[in-house]
Amino acid sequence: MNLSIVIENDEDKRNIDELLKQIEAKILFHPPKNSPYFEFKENKLRFFFDLENSQPLDIDFLKGSMGWRLKRTDHEKLLKKAVGKTDKPLTIFDGTAGFLSDTLILLALGHKVIACEQSKILFVLLKDAIRRAKDDLPYLDNLKIYNDNSINLYKNLENIDLVFLDPMYPEPKKHVLRSGNMSSIRKILNIESIDDVEDNIFFEFKDFGCKKLVLKRPIKAELLDQNINYQVKGKSTRFDVYI
Ligand SMILES: C[S@@+](CC[C@H](N)C(=O)[O-])C[C@H]1O[C@@H](n2cnc3c(N)ncnc32)[C@H](O)[C@@H]1O
Repeated sequence: MNLSIVIENDEDKRNIDELLKQIEAKILFHPPKNSPYFEFKENKLRFFFDLENSQPLDIDFLKGSMGWRLKRTDHEKLLKKAVGKTDKPLTIFDGTAGFLSDTLILLALGHKVIACEQSKILFVLLKDAIRRAKDDLPYLDNLKIYNDNSINLYKNLENIDLVFLDPMYPEPKKHVLRSGNMSSIRKILNIESIDDVEDNIFFEFKDFGCKKLVLKRPIKAELLDQNINYQVKGKSTRFDVYI
C-alpha cells in the first residue's frame, strides 16, 4: 500500500517527523487524485478516503463523545465491573485497539494498558491523537501502543493480568448503518487489504490460557464459549468474562 501525506509547508514536515518514520508516506503539497491520503494541517493529522469524501477521519480524545466520557469516568460502571475489584492497577492487553475508546477508559480507571492495532492507518491517527492529548490526559503515560497483529505481539509479552478484546462484529449490516466509527474501520481495513478475523481472535486468545479474558459483544450476540465465568450487561453491549 502506497500512502501519501499532504502538508502545507516545510514546518509541518518537521512536526510530523516521528509519524513519517512510521508510515513511510510520500510527501505531497497537493492531494493525490485517485487514492486515499493523509493531510497534516493546523497541527492535526486527518485521513481522506478519497477526494470526493468531504468527511475526513481524525481522532480527538478531548472532544465529542470520547471527551465527554473521559470527563465522567465514574459513570463507566460496566467496564469497571468487567475488570473486577483490584487493590492495585492491572496491566491490561487491549488486542483490538480501534479508536482506543475502551483503552482510554481503562487508563482513566488507573490501569496500565498495552494496546495493539493491526491497521497502520488507524495506528498513525492514534499516535497523532495521543501527541495532541498527552498534556491533558496524563494517564496516557501508562499506555504503550503497537502496530502489529495482537496474536503475534501477545506471544512475546509477560505479566499481563487481563486481556481485553472487542472484535469487529461478524454481521456488519445493522452496525455499519448505526456506527460511523465501525464503518470507517471497515473502509480502512479494506484499503489496507487486511482480512479481519473477527470472532476468531477470541479463540486464539482463549488457547493462550490468559489469566482473565474480557470479551466485548453486542448484547444479543451468541455466546462464543459456554465455559464463561460471568457477564456484565449494558443496554446494547455486554462483557463476557473468562477466567
Ligand atoms: C471493534 S474495533 C475495536 C474498538 C475499540 N474497542 C474502541 O474502543 O475503539 C476492532 C479493532 O480491532 C482491530 N483488530 C482486529 N483484530 C486484530 C488483531 N488480530 N490484531 C490487531 N488489531 C486487530 C481492528 O483493526 C479494529 O480496529
